[in-house]
Amino acid sequence: MRVRRYTPKDEFDVISIEFLSFKDPFSHKGFITLYYTYPEGFLVAEVNDKVVGYIAGIPDKSKQLHIVSIAVNPEYRHKGIATKLLTELIHHSKKVGMEKAVLEVRESNRVAIAFYIKHGFEIKSRIESYYSDGEDALVMVKNL
Ligand code: COA
Repeated sequence: MRVRRYTPKDEFDVISIEFLSFKDPFSHKGFITLYYTYPEGFLVAEVNDKVVGYIAGIPDKSKQLHIVSIAVNPEYRHKGIATKLLTELIHHSKKVGMEKAVLEVRESNRVAIAFYIKHGFEIKSRIESYYSDGEDALVMVKNL
């Protein structure tokens, strides 16, 4: 498996993973915005030249990296792919001076919460009705 920067030719693969992974997937426009906002923070994982996962993060002025999305093709989960993506993005973020990583996760998403806790994130707060279906988000933070 290797991790590299996203390029626009990965768009179809990334959107396919997104639709397999979320009930409220990012749109085509959402991915273009992510890419043009901070291309260094948009990474994909490849296995045998096939894109099987991605992560996207955007830094803010208070030296926080906001992890906007991470997902792995269901057929490739629990093999360490998200770990590799997150590790690479955090490595890059530290190098460019980020002090914290922050994200929102659905409170029902037990797998993702376990994944983030394993990687040193802590639950800091809750945002009520954050998602379009009314579910609350948990805000998780890691000091880098
Ligand atoms: N049940 C419980 N814990 C799990 C798990 C599962 N099914 N899958 C992963 N984890 C946790 C474990 O702590 C695991 O460590 P272990 O292998 O020592 O048990 C750790 O996460 C690392 O897992 P990894 O293999 O690197 O994760 P992954 O490549 O399977 O990807 C997600 C994890 C969350 C990205 C993946 O499940 C996914 O794409 N989910 C749908 C999209 C999503 O919910 N994204 C997060 C939105 S905030």
